[in-house]
Amino acid sequence: MNNDSSSRIVAHLKKWISSAAPGAKLPSTRSLVAEYQASPVTVQKALQTLTALGLIESRPGVGTFVRAVRSARPSDYGWQTAALRSPLAPPPPASSTMRNVANDAISFHSGYPDRELLPERLVRAAIARAARGDAALFRPPAAGMPELQSWFAHELGASTPAGTTPPNPSDVVVLPGSQSGLSSIFSALAGRGQPLLMESPSYWGAILAAAQAGVRVVPVPSGPDGPDPAELARAFEESGARLFYAQPNYANPTGAQWSAERREQVLDVVRAKGAFLVEDDWAHDFGITSNPVPVASRDDSGHVVYLRSLTKSVSPSIRVAAVIARGPARERILADRAAESMYVSGLLQAAALDVVTQPGWQTHLRSLRHQLESRRDLLVTSLRQHAPQAHIEQVPKGGLNLWARLPDGTDLERLTRDCEAAGVIIAGGNEWFPAEPAGPFIRLNYSGTNPGAFPEGARIIGQCIERNGA
Ligand SMILES: Cc1ncc(COP(=O)(O)O)c(C=O)c1O
Repeated sequence: MNNDSSSRIVAHLKKWISSAAPGAKLPSTRSLVAEYQASPVTVQKALQTLTALGLIESRPGVGTFVRAVRSARPSDYGWQTAALRSPLAPPPPASSTMRNVANDAISFHSGYPDRELLPERLVRAAIARAARGDAALFRPPAAGMPELQSWFAHELGASTPAGTTPPNPSDVVVLPGSQSGLSSIFSALAGRGQPLLMESPSYWGAILAAAQAGVRVVPVPSGPDGPDPAELARAFEESGARLFYAQPNYANPTGAQWSAERREQVLDVVRAKGAFLVEDDWAHDFGITSNPVPVASRDDSGHVVYLRSLTKSVSPSIRVAAVIARGPARERILADRAAESMYVSGLLQAAALDVVTQPGWQTHLRSLRHQLESRRDLLVTSLRQHAPQAHIEQVPKGGLNLWARLPDGTDLERLTRDCEAAGVIIAGGNEWFPAEPAGPFIRLNYSGTNPGAFPEGARIIGQCIERNGA
């Protein structure tokens, strides 16, 4: 099937439909095949697109017809203003990282890796096998497929040192992506009006999930080595919080990885305060020059609630992640998940498990490490050469992002607009601060499309920063 010729047929037929009367009959598939010199599959695909657009309808055995277009009446939703009343907090704007942009743009904004970094062959084969198996028709248990629970538990157990009890498969709750896990954890373990400590800067989606859960975020400054344990202890005391959300490995956005000593210090503080550490290990598969060591591997007393996602490394379409929690905390999270979505599609769970248990998965991860390394290094070199005003505080040992500080007084909104006008999409750093930003930053993701364009992208960013300060 050829997508281009299908789009060409769609474009022609749209024109034809626009001047045809409602109810007019389209030529038969056979005549369309002859007219457009295309295969029946391509013509069928074009007709499906037009059906989905609501422009035509097919009547089996009779033919395909132009649909009557109903005139759209302007809607008045004013009554909803009264019914909904004011929101408790204004809805945060959509993150710039979730924008879809033109194909030819040089994009540094998106959080999900480009297709060429995904194990495409493994994913396609896994989906096909899952579709043929029982998973396509059965409802999995609420906490997840037992085999997948085991896989997540064993992965964390493999880095658990002797003397610490590894997690059980029954400690695992499978999630449709870790974003939904954040919402559940914040609601179930803190709750509306309660304080939640959060590294600053931190993942915008965690800030959003906290806002939706109605928890009160208390920012804890975090740098290239992670948060200062004394500062963290003070924040626990002053706020009365019992929950600390953090990313000890390759934090989004800074790329910071905590040292072994810092991991122990933070865990000591969390234990001493009778609190939970919510460890978001989103970049577990994205180590470059180091390996991620979960803080959760040192804990067997239920203080660490561990989130591990496969959506970025397996495929954004296989939204599967897991939370590993012990004790009543796990039950509370599971209850929230049940209310929210009951269970995760068995098809997706089976496909995810298939991918990560193939021998090709390890081979893929090794090659991914090299690809990320050369992308990261190319972007660092390009920025140093063409945009030296963007100061990279630390070259991350893993993850997908560079975090750069810009000269004081930089107008970030203007900068992102100017870059976009010149075909380069960047994310202004303000979205990653739970309170006021500590300065003007940008986050540049090096896992997007077309790394060959990084030098050109850096040149444009450099020019726009220059113009911004003029
Ligand atoms: C730190 C962090 N946590 C969680 C997520 C959500 O990931 P997903 O819901 O795809 O598992 C992201 C996605 O960007 C992230 O950067």
